[in-house]
Amino acid sequence: MDEQFTLAETAARSVLERTPLRPRIGLVLGSGLGGFADSLDDAARIPYAEIPAFPRSTAIGHAGQMVVGNAGAVPVAVMQGRVHLYEGYTAQEVAFPMRVFSRMGIRSVILTNAAGGINLSYSQGALVLIRDHINLQGQNPLTGANDDRFGMCFPDMTQAYARAYREMAREEANKLGTMLHEGIYAGLLGPSYETPAEIEYLRRIGADLVGMSTVCEVIAARHTGIKVLAISCVTNMAAGILDQPLSHAEVMETGERVKTTFEALLRAVLPRVAQDIGS
Ligand code: HPA
Repeated sequence: MDEQFTLAETAARSVLERTPLRPRIGLVLGSGLGGFADSLDDAARIPYAEIPAFPRSTAIGHAGQMVVGNAGAVPVAVMQGRVHLYEGYTAQEVAFPMRVFSRMGIRSVILTNAAGGINLSYSQGALVLIRDHINLQGQNPLTGANDDRFGMCFPDMTQAYARAYREMAREEANKLGTMLHEGIYAGLLGPSYETPAEIEYLRRIGADLVGMSTVCEVIAARHTGIKVLAISCVTNMAAGILDQPLSHAEVMETGERVKTTFEALLRAVLPRVAQDIGS
């Protein structure tokens, strides 16, 4: 535990040594959504392999670098790719980047992911604000002795996804004429996609979306007091909804298709979040 703190501190320092920028907002770009990081100005691109103790992504479609740069006037630290439990990483490893963010001085994160759509009012390519999640990953990054330097034990999760940020995102989406749904994300372990029976179960327990990421990150972020906005891109309708098999290629293609809309929304939301935290 003690070690996690020291490792996070060392990793944070090594990132900040590579840039004069001092971002207060962190982003995580999910499968097929990494393009936003290519558009930053004054960017320092730091491969995860060059950040001490930082977990490296093995999934296809994840570049695996931290890009610190300016999105317009807003300095941001962007993770182009993330690691997942299904790659064999522990929940602590999956959540480690949030702890590094916290030691870098990041106060808010915008997490993005690819997800399967369960709610029938969604369609492929839909953007969905996550209002809440259901953790079905069977794991939690906070298990073990609590390190009070990150945060207190038993963090509250009633407003895991900040209501004020959801409001801002909806307002900006309206201005852009972008349809933005809102829903509950069920986080599963993966890496197999769900069966139609599992999707039916998830629908009955109140899930609108299903994915294999985000949950551990949100828990660790909240633990350290980082505020969270999370947006899913429905890259496919979940298993059994359409009469066709799911494929990772489809997930990547949809990410590519919504890229422009998605990036425009991120750009619009960033100054609002920056204003919230006074950066
Ligand atoms: N299920 C789980 N994770 C996903 C899906 C899905 O259908 N699509 C993208 N990520």
